[in-house]
Formats: sequence, structure tokens, C-alpha cells
Amino acid sequence: MGRQRLNHRGGRKAHKEREDLAKESITKSKKSFNHRIAENPDWKPRDPRRGRSDRSLMEHRHKYLAPGGSFDRGQQHWLQKTETMIEGDTYPTDFLPFTRNAANVVAIVGQEYPGEPGDLPVFCEDDCKVVLVSSPPPTAEDESLSGPGGLGKWLEKSLRPHVLAAFEELGPPSFDIGRFPEVFSNRAQFELIRAFARVKVLGPAYGPAEAQRSVSPALHLGVWERYTSKPIITGDSRQNDAPVDKREKLIDALHDLCGVIKAYWLPKIRAIVEWYYPGQEWVWEAMHARILKHLGRDLAKYPNFDFGGMITTLAVKEGGSEKIHVDWFDNLNMFAWVTAVGDFEGGDFCSPQLGGRMPCKPGSLLGARTRFLAHCCTPVAGRRIVLTFFVDSCLFERTMRKL
Ligand SMILES: [Fe+2]
Repeated sequence: MGRQRLNHRGGRKAHKEREDLAKESITKSKKSFNHRIAENPDWKPRDPRRGRSDRSLMEHRHKYLAPGGSFDRGQQHWLQKTETMIEGDTYPTDFLPFTRNAANVVAIVGQEYPGEPGDLPVFCEDDCKVVLVSSPPPTAEDESLSGPGGLGKWLEKSLRPHVLAAFEELGPPSFDIGRFPEVFSNRAQFELIRAFARVKVLGPAYGPAEAQRSVSPALHLGVWERYTSKPIITGDSRQNDAPVDKREKLIDALHDLCGVIKAYWLPKIRAIVEWYYPGQEWVWEAMHARILKHLGRDLAKYPNFDFGGMITTLAVKEGGSEKIHVDWFDNLNMFAWVTAVGDFEGGDFCSPQLGGRMPCKPGSLLGARTRFLAHCCTPVAGRRIVLTFFVDSCLFERTMRKL
């Protein structure tokens, strides 16, 4: 007890001493300031511009931000600490020919890459690191199967030379699978779970089942051009198959869900795409122009179904795609972006061709070339709401043919 009192007194004394020291230092600095002015009446605090003109300041800023400048070097240093690059041994060409045959995918994977996808080793044990997995550059023989810049071979004849040249200059992405941890905030995840719960309570009408992918149905929201000759707002967004009395409420709930996506999720994805695969803005702008040309009036009424050109469509569902498949309606050199929220275990992204699986925690983002690589996910325990953002290949190809 006595010791406590002593400490208490000691504490107060020390506090008093610290207070006195602080007061003294303030007085000293005031004195020094006054002293300087007394010594030199013309003395002024240092001007942050230090006589530099606007132009000179701009030049300084450009130099700082230029490739190889201080900013770039700092970023590279940070990336080296947090990023892991994994290079595969072979360039997987199994699904480059245009076959669109689900049974074929299962047969080829079973024959060439035997074993359970869930038994594949994890690409990186550290869940906090950005992991980029890439195959080696394609040989001339590999390239003969795909078109210029990694586009589909089937597009080679139908695109104009300047578009082909632009894709050749852009080239394929520098990685095939990328995992980015902790991209989406808790707030973003909460808002998404809330909006999805509202949709689920109303009992939405799902489109046709995709047996080659999964047993659980998905809602496809946004815009696409599948089975049509011009872009349309997807049937799931319009809820054509829902009972008439519930349709308006369902569309409203889905529109709200897409609003959450636009506010919290798309800007983060865009920032990552712009950093890791820059130079695609012209593609996005062209696709968005085509969407607005055909759907301008509809999207003015439902603006949240317009994701811009970087993404056209979003698939939302609970669970995962547990069957090995290739997404034939995705693009060879574009990523599908996958993210999941909820309280779950499993759902790792498996790629037998690249020989590994990638765990993805809630709020992380995974980009994968899903038209290029066969993939599936490991069984999920718990509740997992998974979002897959993609560019509809029909919309993309028709836009490019018109340029
Ligand atoms: Fe898929």
C-alpha cells in the first residue's frame, strides 16, 4: 500500500517535472523566435516555395512521379516486401482452341493433371501477401493457337489492323492468377451482406442453372450481350421470371445491391487493374460507348446496372463453383475478378494447370484468366457470398469488330 502511495506521489512529481520542462521549452522557443527577430528585423520563417515558380514546382513534381523517380522507387520497394511472384514451368495451351465443351474440359484435366484439385499445394502460405502466379512467355508454337496480344485466334480475321496493332502493343497480362489480400473494408463487406440479405428475403428468380460449374444457382446482374445481337440488361436484373407482384421490389433490391458494388467494390478493382495491367482505358471506353448507345435510356432509369466498360457483368451467389470448368464467355487476356464475404472456410481457387490452389479470405480479391485456365474451388464450410466480376466476351468482341 505504502509503495503504491509512493508511486503515486512519484508519478505526480514526474508529471509536474514534465509539465515544467514543456513550459520551459515553449518559453525557450518563443525567446529564440523573439531573439531572431530582435537580431534581424527582416527575418521571416522559411517560405515553402523558396522562390520557386509554379513551373519549377510542377517540374519538381513530375520528376518525383516519373518512372524510376522517388515515388516509383518507393512503390517498388514496398512491392518487393509484400509481393510474391511465382512462375510456372509450361504455358498451358489446353483450352486455347475454341471448343466450348464442358465434358472435354473434365476429360483433359483428368488425363493431363490427375488428382483432386483440393489436394494441390497452396501457392503461398502467407495469407497477407499479394501473390502473382504466371506461366512462362508463350513460344511461337503456343502463340499460333492464340491471336495477337493473347486475344482469341478466332478474332484475328475479324478485327481491323489498327485494333490488332493496339492489342499487340497492350500484350497479355503479366500474370495469370493474382491474389490481393484485405482489399475491401469491413464496411464494404457489411453493406454487401445487408444488400444481399434483402434480395434473398424477397426470393429472386434465378436464370438457367449452370450444371457444368456448380450446383448452386447464381444471379447475373448488369449488362451483357449473350444470346442477343445488342447489349441488354440481364434477365436476372430485370427479374422477368419473378411473380408480377414481387418484381418491382426485387428489381429495387438488386439495384440497391449493385449500388453498393459501384460505391465500395468497383473503385478498388479499378485501382488494382490500372496498377497491374495498365493501358486498357480505350477498351473500356469503347465498350461503355456501345452499352450506352443501345441502353442509354434503360440505364438512365437503373444507373446501378451500368458498371462501365471495365466490368460488364456480375455473378452473385452463395457457395462456390466446385466443378472444374472453363468460362467460355470470358476473354482470353482479361481477368475475371472474384471476391467473397461471409464467415466461411475453404473456397480456395484451384488451378491444376498451374499446379496450385490459392486461399482467399473474406474481403480479398482474386483475378484469374478464367477463359485460359480450367479452375474450380475447394468445398466451402459456412456461409460464403461470392461475387464474380467479368467482361462478357460477346459484348467485347462485337465492340472490337466495330472499331
Ligand atoms: Fe469460373
